[in-house]
Amino acid sequence: MILVAGGAGYIGSHMVKRLEQAGERFVVLDNLERGHEAALRGASLVKADLRDPHSLRAAFARRDIDVVLHFAAYIEVGESVQEPAAFWQNNVVGTFNLLEVAREAGVQQFVFSSTAAVYGEPVRTPMDEDHPTVPTNPYGETKLAVERMLESYDEAYGLRSVRLRYFNAAGADPEGELGEDHSPETHLIPRVLLKALGRAEFRVFGDDYPTRDGTCVRDYVHVCDLADAHLGAVGHLRSGGESLVCNLGNGQGFTVKEVVAAVERVTGLKVGAEVAPRRPGDSATLVASSDRAKERLGWRPQYPKLEPMIEHAFAWFKSRPDGYKV
Ligand code: UFG
Repeated sequence: MILVAGGAGYIGSHMVKRLEQAGERFVVLDNLERGHEAALRGASLVKADLRDPHSLRAAFARRDIDVVLHFAAYIEVGESVQEPAAFWQNNVVGTFNLLEVAREAGVQQFVFSSTAAVYGEPVRTPMDEDHPTVPTNPYGETKLAVERMLESYDEAYGLRSVRLRYFNAAGADPEGELGEDHSPETHLIPRVLLKALGRAEFRVFGDDYPTRDGTCVRDYVHVCDLADAHLGAVGHLRSGGESLVCNLGNGQGFTVKEVVAAVERVTGLKVGAEVAPRRPGDSATLVASSDRAKERLGWRPQYPKLEPMIEHAFAWFKSRPDGYKV
């Protein structure tokens, strides 16, 4: 059975649906601080907090868990600069607690949601997994610290892991049941869509970067494709595969202005691109080489193009103005 930590969050909930489709047995662990119970659509939940090891034990008790998928973390770069203590506690101490309880329960396989933020400023593009890791913010530092923790757990205890470094997660469940519901919403595609729908302001953070139109370049990856990569990682570990670190992106970068133009094309709505100063901590360009995930995990992204990511996210925001709130 699989344990999905953070299964009520944006990426975790898409994973839960994917596991259901694959006929896997699983249980979700979430404290519902930022996740949404409605996103679970009735899936089995143990409400527990990573910072409280006792509550974690309840999730493992009397269940034959062989793999942990760990999505539960704080994710906002800006917040990590303001509140690093909360990030070290939740992302690092919390993951340590989860690993220890998993180890106590005899779990030997772990899939970890890492991030492109572990790389910091690119020294080459696209970035492969051997690119230097010099995070530029506490969020990236916490994710890198966990990656190192996992390496040492493999060496010492034989706990094998796949560390998946997501680039920019985007899109929503094509069937419209799940989508992004962050509060506040800081990510580019949702913000541009909310502006198109007249529900939020949107400005371009900086147009003086060394890129083709001066705005930042990012590599967007569909949330369902991220879920698929986790299934590949589970298969890899269950068949005895060694610990791995893999990037997940589509290898194609889009500028902020190109994303705005794509949203205008897909939705037929006007957004505009008013320019504001740079946002601290942003890298000019983050584009992945994901060859390793394709070779080692058999990853085949179903929605590598930007348009379906925007279409699916647009359908979600249009039909669910209050997100998961009823
Ligand atoms: N942007 C704007 N205006 C906005 C929001 C974003 O111009 O209102 C710009 C940002 O400055 C950035 C780009 O759009 O240049 C993408 O920003 P996001 O906030 O959507 O995503 P980030 O690239 O900053 O970060 C995301 C995740 C991180 C992860 C990183 C890895 O939030 O957790 O991708 O690439 F680490």
